[in-house]
Amino acid sequence: MLRKLSSIVFWVFAILTVAEGVDRSLFKTCDQSSFCRRLRKYEQNQSPYLLDLPHLEVNYQNIEVPLLNSDFPNVTLRLTLTAIVGNIFRVTINEVNGLHPRFVPQYALNGEPQVAKLEVLDKSAESLTVKSGDNKVILTAKPLKLEFFHRESLVSAVNENGLFAFEHYRTKPAESETDLQIKDDPGAWEENFKSHHDSKSRGPSAISTDFTFPGAQRVYGLPEHGDRLALRTTTKGGQDPYRLYNLDVFEYELDTTTALYGAIPVIYALGPKHTAGIFWHNAAETWVDITNSKDANVVSSLVNLVSGSKGEPHVDVRFMSESGVLDFFFLIGPTLKDAVKQYTSLTGVHALPQLFTLGYHQSRWNYNDQEDVQTVVARFDEHNLPLDNMWLDIEYTEGKKYFTWDQKKFPTPENMIQNLTSTGRKLVVIIDPHIKRESGYFLHEDALKYDLYVKNKDGTVYEGWCWPGASSYLDFYNPATRDYYKKLYGFDTFKGTTHDVWIWNDMNEPSVFNGPEATMPRDCLHYGGWEHREVHNEYALTHTMVTHEGLLLRSPHRRPFILTRGHFAGSQRYSAVWTGDNDAKWSHLAASIPMCLSEALGAMSFCGADVGGFFHNPEVELLQRWFQAAIWLPFFRQHAHIDTRRRESYLYTEEEINRIRMALRLRYAHLPLWYTLFWEQETGGEPVIRPLVYHYPADENVLDIDNELLVGHSVLARPIVEPGESSVEIYLPGDKKAKWYDLEDFKLYRAGSHRLPVNLDRHLVFYRGGTIVPRKDRPRRSSQAMRHDPFTLYVALDDLNSASGALYVDDYESFDYKDKKYLYLHFNFEKNVLSSKLIDKTDYATQEWIERIVILGPPPGITGAKLVSKSVGTVTLETFYDAEGWSLTIRKPGVTIREPFKVTLI
Ligand code: NOJ
Repeated sequence: MLRKLSSIVFWVFAILTVAEGVDRSLFKTCDQSSFCRRLRKYEQNQSPYLLDLPHLEVNYQNIEVPLLNSDFPNVTLRLTLTAIVGNIFRVTINEVNGLHPRFVPQYALNGEPQVAKLEVLDKSAESLTVKSGDNKVILTAKPLKLEFFHRESLVSAVNENGLFAFEHYRTKPAESETDLQIKDDPGAWEENFKSHHDSKSRGPSAISTDFTFPGAQRVYGLPEHGDRLALRTTTKGGQDPYRLYNLDVFEYELDTTTALYGAIPVIYALGPKHTAGIFWHNAAETWVDITNSKDANVVSSLVNLVSGSKGEPHVDVRFMSESGVLDFFFLIGPTLKDAVKQYTSLTGVHALPQLFTLGYHQSRWNYNDQEDVQTVVARFDEHNLPLDNMWLDIEYTEGKKYFTWDQKKFPTPENMIQNLTSTGRKLVVIIDPHIKRESGYFLHEDALKYDLYVKNKDGTVYEGWCWPGASSYLDFYNPATRDYYKKLYGFDTFKGTTHDVWIWNDMNEPSVFNGPEATMPRDCLHYGGWEHREVHNEYALTHTMVTHEGLLLRSPHRRPFILTRGHFAGSQRYSAVWTGDNDAKWSHLAASIPMCLSEALGAMSFCGADVGGFFHNPEVELLQRWFQAAIWLPFFRQHAHIDTRRRESYLYTEEEINRIRMALRLRYAHLPLWYTLFWEQETGGEPVIRPLVYHYPADENVLDIDNELLVGHSVLARPIVEPGESSVEIYLPGDKKAKWYDLEDFKLYRAGSHRLPVNLDRHLVFYRGGTIVPRKDRPRRSSQAMRHDPFTLYVALDDLNSASGALYVDDYESFDYKDKKYLYLHFNFEKNVLSSKLIDKTDYATQEWIERIVILGPPPGITGAKLVSKSVGTVTLETFYDAEGWSLTIRKPGVTIREPFKVTLI
């Protein structure tokens, strides 16, 4: 009890005083996590596991083989191999007649993957070869090994290092003396185990295996960590593996493999010839060891590998999870782009968001009252600072009771919302999953009455400590909870809200101030009898999934917007994400880029970081730089801790405000590009932001670049993330013919490294030669006000004087686009002719039109242009070069985007 109290006191103190730095002692290292410590002690190449191939079953859709452990003859596992459409294999290993069922994540997959044909090519007692399309798997019986091939080349080997483990109720976790004594007597182990655990405990049930990727130079993925994009070697220098365990880490550190709020267990191993990935489909605490041969002195495991790969670069990856079925999807690639798409095909995409969500969001903990909200918006308008959304943190509620309003501070929310929407703005309010235990609070009373809470292991309702004080936690695995909760978003329950109010789901790791590692105890029970340890990383996903259902129920004609902090594989289907409680430090500004790039490779493109840093007060240079950087991340919000000074952009000097205004305007000018990319992400599964390695995997120079990012494949941004810079290094990728245009003055640069001068007004952004970027350049106060504005097309020419690009347009908010009410245009520039045509046979009655065309790297000697379209006929247009001849502007084409047109330079 005393410990519990002191832990609460610590958290309350830490949160209120904004203490310096994370308290590492609160969070486990691998050594302190019994299963991680246990598994990490396994010795290589001593695998007792073998496949019983004579008992192989070849079914219509998969093959199944008994898997035995020679140390424990009574234990039988079953390996199932399935081919999935799109160059993916799934491998599942589970116990046969296990004493307890093992958990498989319930919501990560976007439906059941579609199975592909699997053919047995060869079988014997020693090995089995199966094929699906261009891919092949060889299963070796003794010891267990799986090798994945793409067109005859080996892509990866599983259990190559013999670190496969499947702790069974009867399996000895080889650790203590007692364990060693009972090694030869599984029955004795069982007895011993039973005497130490009550009947409800599951016992050790960890699972693990290693993957070797011959030829791989880097591994990427495993968000969320405050680390570089390329994953580091963790098996030397006393480092911990990357930890995936959703946690509310107070004042998190950078350059570390420790856990954060989200866990997406996908990795990509990239090599010059081949890139492949693993999606480790498990929601329990997971640790991942990485061994990259490039890091000197790492223990090589590849000596046994076939086909002369010895001595080549390679990477070993080892997943270790506390429990669950061993279930992974092997993403064959062969490119990083393919592997990311394969992962996305399994877990889904972000549905196209409403346009306003891509605008600027203004938040702080907290806006004091409804007048404060209105004043902030008015002052943004006074200073011509574009703004789309205002946010309310927990203080808007009555005593942290969600779905209520503080009557004193927000007596008439409808008026406040009306005031916002009248100027085209929206509101986002916070709703957390912990519920205040207060009698008379309808939600708590209903949750008790209908039995909607997570339980203690003895079946009583679990009680933890969070913002409201004593709280209980909704169990979204319970269908009754889901049914109840989704209705809470309705206007009759969440009074005062309207169709223009959207939701922020926070603290859903779940955060429990007095819980172990500030989260829920692992032996808590969820619906279906699942222990919390099994479902932990999936909990936040269930929260957002139900919120999403609730918003659809409430506003069936609007695309929902939800921001979440905790996340898991599949969270992208319901929410955007931000990097949590960062700090007002240059290092945190820098980290926002690799952190979001890593999320984007995990299909969570809709990512951003609190502008200015959540904790502490940013110096004004940092704040300005943060704006200049954040406009190139998909989710763009300023947010700050309750103890920080106000930092709304209008509070600075004219010069500083102007700098922020310019950044905001650049963001708004690119909204058509962002929107088009989100559409392409929904339809094609490609991330919206991408590391350079995504498009230039063969260029070794880009493997570690994570201070630059690509927006789609047309914009390259290199934010300034250090104070007082007067020049910075930038790498422009591509072959020697590649062209890049500086957004500042449209000056042309060739691929390669450049040191460029910068000042406070200048940050580095380039358009890639060969692309056409659609923009809306008229400054407005919100995206709503830009709806009917005309476009300017920026045509950045490549070495062959050609370029192409796309533009997607619809009503920017409803689902009508699913009924073909949209325009998806393809622009092409070739031989001095720009043409526009519709890609899909659709129509949308937009008033938008083209007001200007700017050609970067234009041909010389152009004196005018000729436009031809059905409604305009043939007209001559004026053109002019800028002073240096770096760009050519075609004035007023004035043509609607609904019909094809051609503009010829003359
Ligand atoms: C934690 C979130 O990370 C932070 O953004 C928010 O302001 C506080 N919770 C209060 O709700």
